[in-house]
Amino acid sequence: MSHDDYPTDDPAVVTCGLPYANGDLHIGHLRTYVSGDVFARALRKLGQQTAFVSGSDMHGTPVAVNAEKEGVTPEEFALRHHEKYEATFPKFNVEFDNYGHTHDETNTELTTDIVRTLDEKGYVYEKEIKVAWDPIEDDPLPDRYVEGTCPYCGATARGDECDEGCGRHLEPGEIENPTSIRTGNPAEYREREHKFFRVSDLQEYLQEFIDRLEGTDNAKNQPREWIEGELQDWCITRDLDWGIDYPNGEDDLVLYVWVDAPIEYVSSTKQYTERVGSDTYDWEQVWKDEGDIVHVIGRDIIQHHTIFWPAMLHVAEYEEPRAVVASGFVNLNGEAFSTSRNRAVWADEYLDEGFHPDLVRYYLTTTGGIERDVNFSWDRFQERVNGELVGTVGNFAYRSLLFAARNFDGTPDADVSDEVEHRIESAVDDFAAAVNDYSLKRIGEAATALAAFGNEYIQRNEPWKLTDEDPERAAQVIRDCVQIAKALAVVFAPVVPGKADDLWSHLGESGSVHDADIQAALEAPPASFDEPSELFEKIEDERVEDLNEKLQASIEAATSDEDEAEDEDMSDEFEPIADDRIGFEEFEDLDLRVGRIETADPIEGADDLVRLEVDIGVETRQIVAGIKQLHDVDELPGTKIIVVANLEKAELFGTESNGMLLAAGDQADLLTTHGDAEPGTKVQ
Ligand code: MSP
Ligand code: ZN
Repeated sequence: MSHDDYPTDDPAVVTCGLPYANGDLHIGHLRTYVSGDVFARALRKLGQQTAFVSGSDMHGTPVAVNAEKEGVTPEEFALRHHEKYEATFPKFNVEFDNYGHTHDETNTELTTDIVRTLDEKGYVYEKEIKVAWDPIEDDPLPDRYVEGTCPYCGATARGDECDEGCGRHLEPGEIENPTSIRTGNPAEYREREHKFFRVSDLQEYLQEFIDRLEGTDNAKNQPREWIEGELQDWCITRDLDWGIDYPNGEDDLVLYVWVDAPIEYVSSTKQYTERVGSDTYDWEQVWKDEGDIVHVIGRDIIQHHTIFWPAMLHVAEYEEPRAVVASGFVNLNGEAFSTSRNRAVWADEYLDEGFHPDLVRYYLTTTGGIERDVNFSWDRFQERVNGELVGTVGNFAYRSLLFAARNFDGTPDADVSDEVEHRIESAVDDFAAAVNDYSLKRIGEAATALAAFGNEYIQRNEPWKLTDEDPERAAQVIRDCVQIAKALAVVFAPVVPGKADDLWSHLGESGSVHDADIQAALEAPPASFDEPSELFEKIEDERVEDLNEKLQASIEAATSDEDEAEDEDMSDEFEPIADDRIGFEEFEDLDLRVGRIETADPIEGADDLVRLEVDIGVETRQIVAGIKQLHDVDELPGTKIIVVANLEKAELFGTESNGMLLAAGDQADLLTTHGDAEPGTKVQ
């Protein structure tokens, strides 16, 4: 791999985080797939040889859990979703060169091969560990079969991941207060032999790797804390039937889903080569010799892509990723979309509304920087579509090509002015710079800014006045506008592939804009073309009201389902009251105080943590609390809370927490006072 600017001489591969084959796709997932597709198309525009691959993540407990609920085999269940995804992506103009799945032969073979290598090189050892077990059913409870408390931040977490708190990967046995999600039974820990990958031996390598890594800042910075801290070895097997068997078929162990999932990136590229031939694209060159590997993912799976995955690649003597591009989350009312909680704007729902896929592509790639979490809102969607796509891009393209077709039957016979040539050249430069900075937003902006210039140019030169007064000058101005329109089609193609092709054909061009490289922006369009049609359609206010109502209704339905589910859970899931009584003196040891939240700020990078300044009468304390997802952070200041004031200080996500607030249950219902007790008042 080189760190030369794109386009490099090496082939590139762009991959997208594999979707778990366990539910419907939503707009949140699409942020990964659209971003990957935009980036792959943009690389190709620059002339970089690029394969764009992904596949379905078929294994793991989420699939096993859901298949079990439906009473079908995991394979049948996962394949059904896989086929659905494969059919859905092209509807969003997400066009993979290969879309495989982790359960196919290619991936099973390659995974077995890579794990064997790790083993042969002495990087795998066996260790007896405690794994969660359902004592009543006598079943192992790997990963998401178990829920409990994160030992690092105290948030509710599922077996292998603190998904609502600090975001850490959790090793088997780490979760506290485990309960089975299948039966609700409190789980116990049993001793089992498992295989471990010596990630801790790779600290030095990983440190160097992270220094070299390109991509978004979150992906380059977030893992440092882990790499520079005490790197743990990684348990790579599970007590589960569903998955890829541990090589040599010992026991009933399968590989942990996160082992075979990223290997699908390689397998999928291999399948692409098998289809097109290694003269066209050589997977081995990319993955084993010289290739630019770019992983596009969401920010929740950075750790897997910057620690475990490069560690495996390194030991197996594969190429390391050049870049990890990790997007922020798409949220609804500040909470992440959730397949399991049915809280989302679904991909199918969007398509059923009849919206063109390019609209949501534009929205997802250019609303906020890629690292930012964004709240999905139809109002904002309408604003972006009507403002930039209809008002700027569509308006410019339509008015210039209509004028050209009516007055000149197409492209006027004149040369492009220096001003316009330079403006197009700078759009091309901005595009290339944006690709090299992994900024999808700026890729989009290179196009919209060019269209805005076009509008300003046509307005300033008023060609409609010139047709009679100065026909030659009119021809010149329109010639410029037609060239800008062509450049716009080329530069905007990665973001809005369908609409750019429409514009391409309005210009009388044959073939597809996706076969043209960036240089085409400055090449003359055909001499004749017909009157164009409008590229984009305005979204009316009534439409948005209607969409908002539907969305609100589905959020409410999801929320009440959740409440109901919780109520049900509650009845038999309340922990029994502890048998051991404590003395009054022991209670007196707790210094509980009334506090008032003064300020509340989300902690960057932590999904769930908020930094609070709390007035507790005697002083103002900084307290870190895992309540970001559960409360509107902006509403917290002014709230009275109860604080354990004499708790040991702790550090959460690098921030000191000097005390703890009290809250009830999973939803962190904050304890407060109902009279006018002042901050500092002792609770007794
Ligand atoms: N199967 C794993 C990835 C394995 S990669 C070797 C997984 N699957 S997923 O279905 O949960 O997510 C698929 C992709 O969508 C991931 O890149 C994930 O980060 C992204 N997103 C899922 N929900 C999202 C949002 N609400 N917002 C933005 N991206 C999100 O993780
Ligand atoms: Zn945690």
